[in-house]
Amino acid sequence: MRIFVAGGTGAIGRALVPQLLQAGHDVSVATRSEARADDLRRIGADAVVCDVLDGTRLRSAMGAAAPEVVVHELTSLPGAIDMRDLSVFDATNELRTTGTQLLLAAALASGASRIVAQSIAFAYEPMGDPIKGEDAPLYLSAAQPFGGAVRAVAELERTVTGTPDIEGVALRYGWLYGPGTYFASDGSTAAAVRNQHYGIIGEGSGIYSFIQVDDAASATVAAVERGAPGIYNVVDDEPAPIRDWLPVYAEVLGAPPPVWVSEVQGEELAGPLVVELAGSMRGASNEKAKRDLAWRPRHANWRQGFATCAG
Ligand SMILES: NC(=O)c1ccc[n+]([C@@H]2O[C@H](COP(=O)([O-])OP(=O)(O)OC[C@H]3O[C@@H](n4cnc5c(N)ncnc54)[C@H](OP(=O)(O)O)[C@@H]3O)[C@@H](O)[C@H]2O)c1
Repeated sequence: MRIFVAGGTGAIGRALVPQLLQAGHDVSVATRSEARADDLRRIGADAVVCDVLDGTRLRSAMGAAAPEVVVHELTSLPGAIDMRDLSVFDATNELRTTGTQLLLAAALASGASRIVAQSIAFAYEPMGDPIKGEDAPLYLSAAQPFGGAVRAVAELERTVTGTPDIEGVALRYGWLYGPGTYFASDGSTAAAVRNQHYGIIGEGSGIYSFIQVDDAASATVAAVERGAPGIYNVVDDEPAPIRDWLPVYAEVLGAPPPVWVSEVQGEELAGPLVVELAGSMRGASNEKAKRDLAWRPRHANWRQGFATCAG
């Protein structure tokens, strides 16, 4: 199939593009960088230098590629996320709202029949069941800057799955680890854990669902090729509270054991939003993606995955 990937040079895209090529697809990638375009051509992809927020240029680039499927992996994230910075997600929110609309318009104009877009699996409202399926409500009322990010992914999902004449799939990826992510050995979370600036707050009961980047990419290949339109959690088999996974991750990094701090200390160090999420975040179930996309993560859980990817 002919696939157009927006965001093919980011953390997920770098894993995804080689897997799409390996599966025999013709892949075109939009990047803003001439150098990254050359890198993509060297591995066998077509590359077009294009800012996705320039709708005219995007429409002409996508028209030339004439894709059957469009993949949206656009983000604009800083090297480290500080939840006290209220504008930290603004650029990514714009890509998930305006960027999604522009991609959809270009996809429809170029005759594409399917779009697969990135969402997140850690935006569920922190009420009720600890592990959420795709029908559970999102935490739209979360405090800023997280609330704005949740509302932007909700808008992305509505746009992608609610546009007539094109099949829309939204993939809610879990917390990413592996090369190019915050959890990689050179990533900002690893640095914070080594410095003991990333610890367990209160009872450490907030639940994380992880996914290794190559597994996020293989789920995306599956969603390009098959599966009913709709929303899928793309996470591993073992959602876990931070008090369980953080000591294992610290050990793999060779870092000191994580510090435990009270909620009051946590608020002083990281702000009230981080304390709230650290205590209440819900995990996600991968049952639907396994069943309907016929997909399995190669790293079935973070215990195995950290050991091969974090150190
Ligand atoms: N959950 C995680 O752990 C996670 C996930 C992702 C990223 N990160 C971290 O965030 C930082 C940046 O991540 P990243 O390397 O994935 O890059 P990024 O800056 O978030 O960009 C992601 C992708 O979006 C594309 N993009 C963004 N704006 C665009 C636009 N206007 N037009 C066309 N393409 C656009 C980029 O392409 P071009 O730049 O080639 O144009 C790139 O392919 C890194 O420090 C990384 O560790 C962490």
